[in-house]
Amino acid sequence: MFKKVTLTLAGMLVAGSALAAGTPYHDGTATVVEPSDSRNPLGEVISGLDFRKDMIRDMQADEFENPGMLTVEYGEGIWDQVDGSKGLSLAQVWEECSGVAADVAGAVYPRYHDGAGKVLTLEQQINYCRETAMGAKTYKWEKADMLGMTAYIRYLANGSPINVDVDGPANATFQKGEALFYERVGQLDMSCAHCHEDNYGNYIRADMLSQGHINGFPTYRVKWNGIGSTHRRFRGCNDNIRATKLPYGHEDYVALELYIAWRGNGLTVETPAVRQ
Ligand code: HEC
Repeated sequence: MFKKVTLTLAGMLVAGSALAAGTPYHDGTATVVEPSDSRNPLGEVISGLDFRKDMIRDMQADEFENPGMLTVEYGEGIWDQVDGSKGLSLAQVWEECSGVAADVAGAVYPRYHDGAGKVLTLEQQINYCRETAMGAKTYKWEKADMLGMTAYIRYLANGSPINVDVDGPANATFQKGEALFYERVGQLDMSCAHCHEDNYGNYIRADMLSQGHINGFPTYRVKWNGIGSTHRRFRGCNDNIRATKLPYGHEDYVALELYIAWRGNGLTVETPAVRQ
């Protein structure tokens, strides 16, 4: 069984060579962050941006050209909007409800929340505050309001280092996420690690594999013709290996997201990132 799988993966991989030139990773100009935590299995932490070629990187860098900025602007508009039975906006309730300053939040989620008694993604924290502090209806995952609000809050932290806490009450979720990252799943019997730890820098079919970080989410993808959440990306990667997709916000995806965010601690927030 193992042999067959190795052959399948090997068959899909093209070693990064001449094809790869033009990415900062291959040209030796990538921004390399040393992991601050000795538990991090990555010897070098590198943003997905540095595995992309000029065209995509230029599009991300130019705020007028970056299509994700429209979503950020939409989010900025609803941030101050009063909604719900208490007549308050998210801007008014955020800090007290979440326990994190608005301009820091974009760098520290997923995060354990005492009131909820569990680790929350940014989406879940927004909905928690809407329900409890605003008396407002929850936003639907992957719809314009939620994508706008998450993009805006992440954007407020743009340029600051990701700093996700996985100790204390978050630790059980972290350990679950770690196990999921290495678990072989799907018809191709592969784990996230096969592609994003063992083979970053190599091509898989037409795609250059990165380390699978989430510092640029929500991310604008040319293929999606729009912006999408981390869980949308996880669902896509599950599809690629013919594994069962989980619903948005599933506790396994929350755990995986916490684990992956931590692997990228020290990278700067780059929302809204652009990918092909
Ligand atoms: C068969 C290989 C493969 C596997 C297995 C795989 N992915 Fe991916 N993943 C890709 C490819 C290809 C891309 C797009 C190029 C890139 O950034 O690596 C990608 C991109 C991503 C990204 C976006 C990175 C960025 O900077 O935009 C994340 C996050 C991600 N994957 C998470 C996961 C998770 C979580 C798992 C396990 C559930 C997983 N992937 C399993 C192939 C894979």
